[in-house]
Amino acid sequence: MMTTFEQNTALITGGSSGIGLATAHALLAQGARRVYITGRDRTKLAAAREQLGERAIAVACDSADVASLAALHSEIALRGDRLDILFANAGMAFHNAFGDTTPVTFDRLFDTNVKGVFFTVQTLLPLVSDGGSIILNASIAANLGMPNLSLYNASKAAVRSFARSWASDLKARRIRVNAISPGVTRTPILESGLGMNDAQIDGVEQFLGEASPAGRMGESNEIAAAVLFLASTSASYVNGTELVVDGGHSQV
Ligand SMILES: NC(=O)c1ccc[n+]([C@@H]2O[C@H](COP(=O)([O-])OP(=O)(O)OC[C@H]3O[C@@H](n4cnc5c(N)ncnc54)[C@H](OP(=O)(O)O)[C@@H]3O)[C@@H](O)[C@H]2O)c1
Repeated sequence: MMTTFEQNTALITGGSSGIGLATAHALLAQGARRVYITGRDRTKLAAAREQLGERAIAVACDSADVASLAALHSEIALRGDRLDILFANAGMAFHNAFGDTTPVTFDRLFDTNVKGVFFTVQTLLPLVSDGGSIILNASIAANLGMPNLSLYNASKAAVRSFARSWASDLKARRIRVNAISPGVTRTPILESGLGMNDAQIDGVEQFLGEASPAGRMGESNEIAAAVLFLASTSASYVNGTELVVDGGHSQV
């Protein structure tokens, strides 16, 4: 079944880059009437808005800051929009050595990846239409114990858990809540968050060539396609689940 999003308005947090930006492109290509994107860096946001065109609206918003989320709510409400699709995608990744991790480091990661996702959805929920679709960006890390990534791994386990709980909590409003769990995907986070240089990224690609059935990293548009499935009426009976999109890497 071909799905279009012609009547739909969407919000994508962290829509200025990587998976979020690819999802914004995909929704607009399939006719979405309006797509809100957020991020903290205004220069990156403006560049993304320029690429996406007039049906995209960029709003500077730090997901870790509840006042900033309240301002985002006001911005959308003032335009009279309601949200059919909410993709809580904004997230960060960095290594933390267990034994040498400070409370400040803990809070920095959890404030965006866990508290940020929680308050993004709770704050925007009054604007989400009954029968809408909420998608949370988790990660295959939610179910793995990747070394030096205990904060990131745990943050994504929390995100996956939110999808289960909120699918129950939002039953009366027929709002579906699902998590998407990408495997390693070629986005700026590999360099900006995990500090990988080109040679290291090539090394991961080589490793996946052996270890993953797909034999390669994912691309942002491949994750976006799965997000669109979860957002669509084709997924009308898919709720509370985790869709792993990793070329089979964590499944074999
Ligand atoms: N790439 C992968 O291999 C992979 C795998 C599994 C899951 N994921 C998840 O996918 C999501 C998107 O990551 P990506 O790979 O697309 O990386 P990316 O290209 O670095 O994009 C991250 C986006 O999130 C925004 N962001 C980060 N912290 C934010 C905050 N506090 N408030 C608002 N926006 C914030 C960034 O903009 P600003 O920095 O300007 O705020 C950017 O738009 C993340 O949740 C990540 O954990 C990625």
